[in-house]
Amino acid sequence: MERTSSKMGKNRTGVQMSPKATEAMLAFTQQRQPTSHGDESGIAALRQSYIEEGDGVGSVPLPGTAKGMLKSGAKMMTGSRPQALVDKLAERLAFERTGTRLYTALITKHRSDVEGQVPIDQLVRFRDDEAQHVALLAEALQQLGADPTAQTPGADLVGVESMGLMQAITDPRTTFAQSLHAILVAELADHEGWDLLIALAESEGHKDLAQRFAAALDEEQTHLDHVRRWVSALTMGEARVGAPS
Ligand SMILES: [Fe+2]
Ligand SMILES: [Fe+2]
Repeated sequence: MERTSSKMGKNRTGVQMSPKATEAMLAFTQQRQPTSHGDESGIAALRQSYIEEGDGVGSVPLPGTAKGMLKSGAKMMTGSRPQALVDKLAERLAFERTGTRLYTALITKHRSDVEGQVPIDQLVRFRDDEAQHVALLAEALQQLGADPTAQTPGADLVGVESMGLMQAITDPRTTFAQSLHAILVAELADHEGWDLLIALAESEGHKDLAQRFAAALDEEQTHLDHVRRWVSALTMGEARVGAPS
């Protein structure tokens, strides 16, 4: 079925659809008292009470194996905050794993009519890059004696953050172009994530890791450049198709 991201239709969500009702609604807000009491301070106080009771999103686990502990003991002595590095490595791993799944879902939506602008081979290559990034991070965590399968606070956080991206791409109603926009959000975060991880690895005295991660950052730059261009080309293309002649 032919589908574009921004076709004209029977959208009734805006107030312009009903000028009379809009007028009546505005008049009501000016003349009457609100129908419910209180303001946003109530929800802020409730949230504050939960914040005070909350004890954070999990913790960074201790290395699980004796071998791992020995290794991390030797390696971790070099940095001042080894747990921060383990948390950020696990965070990046979780996001790269999601990135792999996002590309897999996007590839399902690829259609022959966009092949000229977005070659499917390139999407498959990017998906494979993301999977390799997962492997690279798992190896780095193992080298530090940490468990790459552990869900650290950072890993948990990015899992929740990326839920919206996954929902947007796997929604059967969203177009390829709309799904690609969600990938752009992921790639922007990917790029920033590697940048910060490299800085942290360096400051913790792990120059070898930082060097390996620099190659991943280069790949992310390529992903970002391409996805940006594709989103722009598809958006402009749809604008041209939809433009009045
Ligand atoms: Fe990646
Ligand atoms: Fe990427």
